[in-house]
Amino acid sequence: MQNAAAAFTAAAALLLKRPFMTATRVSVATAVLLLTLQAGHGAESFAGAPAGASSCTGCHSAQAAAPEMRALGGMPAADIAAKMEAFKGGGAPATIMDRIAKGFGAEEIRAIAAWYAAQKP
Ligand code: HEC
Repeated sequence: MQNAAAAFTAAAALLLKRPFMTATRVSVATAVLLLTLQAGHGAESFAGAPAGASSCTGCHSAQAAAPEMRALGGMPAADIAAKMEAFKGGGAPATIMDRIAKGFGAEEIRAIAAWYAAQKP
């Protein structure tokens, strides 16, 4: 739950910095976060994880094939990285990932993608 709370704080700070954020988008993001906080991901270990990796698990599971919203665990690193770059450049439709992806450099994205790809169920 600590990770989820940290992700919530980070996402909230990110959202508050954006003047174009509408009330609807804020409530969609909040709903996603609240659902995730209820689900919790306390069992995951972030020992040796690159900076920023734990912030993703407020919304995504690090466990491969987890039943919740698109688990990042076990997803091919190249797919995660390509998707993050697409979100960053506006090339993929997004409600929130475009803003999150902009917070990471190419090297950070590569490290986070490799770490998630290596997670086992
Ligand atoms: C606040 C919740 C939230 C957080 C935190 C979050 N994501 Fe996401 N992610 C989403 C949502 C929602 C989508 C679906 C696209 C959208 O609407 O933005 C998504 C989609 C994705 C996808 C595409 C999955 C697919 O199969 O198309 C990837 C890859 C991804 N996120 C990676 C990450 C990474 C890496 C992090 C951490 C740096 C992260 N996400 C943090 C909510 C989140």
